[in-house]
Amino acid sequence: MPSMLAIRALWVLNLFISSSIAFPSLDPIVPRAAASQPYEAPGPGDARAPCPALNTLANHGCINHNGSDIARQSIIDAFQAQFGIEESAIDLALVNAFVVCEYVTGADCGTTLKNLTILAEPHAFEHDHSFSREDYMMSYLPDGAAFTDNQNFNASIFQSSLDVLGGSTHVNYKQMNQIRLQREALSLNNTVPGWFVESKPIQEFEAGFIFAVMGDFNLPKYNVTPKIRVEWWNYWFTNESFPYELGWHPPTVPRGSDFVLSASSEVLAARVKSTPAPLVSGAVGTADAPGTLNEAVATTTYQIPTFEPYAAAGVGGADKRDVSTSTEATATAVPVINPYMQTLAPSDIAAQQAYATSVMSVLSSMSA
Ligand code: HEM
Repeated sequence: MPSMLAIRALWVLNLFISSSIAFPSLDPIVPRAAASQPYEAPGPGDARAPCPALNTLANHGCINHNGSDIARQSIIDAFQAQFGIEESAIDLALVNAFVVCEYVTGADCGTTLKNLTILAEPHAFEHDHSFSREDYMMSYLPDGAAFTDNQNFNASIFQSSLDVLGGSTHVNYKQMNQIRLQREALSLNNTVPGWFVESKPIQEFEAGFIFAVMGDFNLPKYNVTPKIRVEWWNYWFTNESFPYELGWHPPTVPRGSDFVLSASSEVLAARVKSTPAPLVSGAVGTADAPGTLNEAVATTTYQIPTFEPYAAAGVGGADKRDVSTSTEATATAVPVINPYMQTLAPSDIAAQQAYATSVMSVLSSMSA
């Protein structure tokens, strides 16, 4: 039986898909100099989300810098002006966010999102196997009651996404699908029995967003088969700021639902070289309509993380990963069993898979 959340999200999705069309025509490239407002790191009392885009907007004061009492319309305006993202592309995410707001606060939130942290309510909009965040429950937690920081950027987790690329400067649809599957496999490797829920419909939408805003417009087929420029993606996630100084600017013809849905479907349809293990059945291939919330939502409410918001050590320069890692909000090391970090060639996915399977069998024999 689908939950109230799923039904409402699906209803909006139908409207959403029926209006979707093909990619827009060629974008005129008009570089912009900088974000309209400078970056200001979040303070300890500020609320931040598990969403790198909302956090970027808040860090630049394009929505309330304290991350609280955010008007729905201010989110729409900020995405349009700062990220070149049209309202059509975020309609469904907004519905989902306000459903979660009502679910967490117990009251209709009207047109004001209570704060960004509520979006970290696990297994609601927030999900497992994120590109750059820990899952709420991980097997390395000290006891069954503990939970991780599933909200803030986590350099180790994001590195496990980037490792899949083996140093390539750009990400195509196939590589993004490979990253997605790798994140699922690594999550499953580190999960608590009974916790892991696959969230393909939401994650594929997020993958579409990354293609929409971090696609390299310097490449010839940008409008047909965009490729994500890794240094921009890396800078954005790591700093939660716009990578202007690396030559980035938002798409000058704003990206709508047509673009995001096309890109996200392409990601799931892209054939991967081989699949990592373990995966849940149905992990490979297409999914329910993109963006829909989990049907399992609204059965249990979990404590929302209260970790301080993440702020990179410094914004600016070509690559702040090393610096930002040291000030990461999650101070604990993340013992991710990542086959891509082993001596096997990063592109040899079949060998990586065999390695992961062998590590898992050693681990299970140790715990037997
Ligand atoms: C009102 C609009 C939006 C809301 C409410 C929202 C909310 C969220 C939430 C709750 C997550 C956490 C999912 C997880 O557990 O990984 C998330 C992740 C994400 N969001 Fe947003 N989002 C919005 C718009 C956008 C836009 C427009 C972009 C791109 C420009 C974006 C990019 C992303 C990406 C890339 C992730 C994945 C992060 C990761 O896996 O580490 N979001 N968003």
